Amino acid sequence: MCAAAVAAGAACSWYEPAASSTSIAPVGPALPGQPGGVFTTARPTVGAAVDDFLNRPSEPRQPIEFPHDVHVGKNVACEFCHEGVDKGPAAGLPSVRTCMICHEAIATDRPRIQQITALRDKGLDLAWQRVYGFDNEDSVRFNHAPHIRAKVECATCHGNVAEQTVAQRSVEHTMGFCVNCHNERQAPVECVICHY
Ligand code: HEC
Ligand code: HEC
Ligand code: HEC
Ligand code: HEC
Ligand code: HEC
Repeated sequence: MCAAAVAAGAACSWYEPAASSTSIAPVGPALPGQPGGVFTTARPTVGAAVDDFLNRPSEPRQPIEFPHDVHVGKNVACEFCHEGVDKGPAAGLPSVRTCMICHEAIATDRPRIQQITALRDKGLDLAWQRVYGFDNEDSVRFNHAPHIRAKVECATCHGNVAEQTVAQRSVEHTMGFCVNCHNERQAPVECVICHY
């Protein structure tokens, strides 16, 4: 597993550095480029146990600590990295090539930048873990574009990402959350609008 993580250009940081191997718990299903999860019944923290009970993904661990705050502070637009957001259903997550548009030249002396440069040079990419999303059994469909057109702020649904490093799941996308606003804004509330 560590070999796979190293091959993906990162340390085994998806796993608890963990003194005891029995407390190593997966942080969700493995994504392409990430090591497969090993399930144990033990959970490393009470929070993880609660997340598990509520069938909620535990806080994801990203391949590198990506600083949203730094980028938004330098006026890089959300859409620069999440370029699908005003065009269709998915916002999209940036590939390392997008990072290198700037980091070929910017901050090239910093360790994290050297890490992503090395990854790119090996033809590898960053395997970002998803923060938001629905379980398949909820059969929910979502589409960003109509919301952006209707001028719903990113922060309404994602919290203040501009102050976060890696994105935090700070807003729960429950059915009530969606339907309340649809009622207020006279957006459609038929079941089939959101469910398939
Ligand atoms: C539009 C330009 C731009 C893009 C695209 C971009 N960055 Fe940056 N990034 C910057 C700027 C500007 C800074 C601040 C540099 C400084 O502190 O002088 C920065 C800083 C960083 C830092 C902090 C470096 C440090 O240790 O101080 C990290 C880490 C980083 N970027 C990672 C990424 C990753 C990963 C991506 C791709 C997902 C990315 N960046 C895409 C412009 C960009
Ligand atoms: C009306 C609520 C809403 C608004 C407004 C919104 N999002 Fe989202 N966003 C969601 C939901 C719900 C998901 C999970 C969708 C899924 O998995 O099907 C999501 C997922 C994402 C993702 C994960 C990757 C992907 O491809 O979808 C990113 C990145 C994202 N949003 C960025 C943004 C940005 C940037 C903005 C503002 C320009 C924004 N969102 C505005 C609700 C919203
Ligand atoms: C320089 C590139 C960059 C910019 C600019 C940027 N993001 Fe991100 N965003 C990322 C990367 C890389 C990730 C994956 C790591 C993480 O989850 O933090 C991400 C993840 C997210 C996620 C979590 C998606 C999911 O469900 O997995 C949300 C929500 C998000 N960004 C919203 C925003 C918003 C809102 C803005 C503008 C205020 C913004 N981002 C600006 C690069 C960027
Ligand atoms: C803050 C307000 C707000 C929230 C929260 C919100 N929406 Fe919306 N939604 C809107 C508005 C406004 C529209 C645009 C209606 C239009 O285009 O006339 C819309 C449109 C949509 C559409 C497209 C409808 C169509 O006509 O095809 C879908 C699907 C949708 N929303 C699903 C969701 C889901 C799922 C959530 C929760 C994760 C959600 N929305 C949360 C305000 C919101
Ligand atoms: C505006 C979007 C939207 C509309 C309209 C909508 N739902 Fe949902 N629904 C959701 C979301 C989002 C979830 C997922 C909640 C979660 O994961 O916590 C959900 C979850 C559910 C669930 C799973 C249990 C739960 O509450 O989490 C059921 C059952 C359900 N919806 C039925 C319906 C029915 C029946 C209608 C029509 C009367 C409807 N929904 C209309 C967005 C919507």
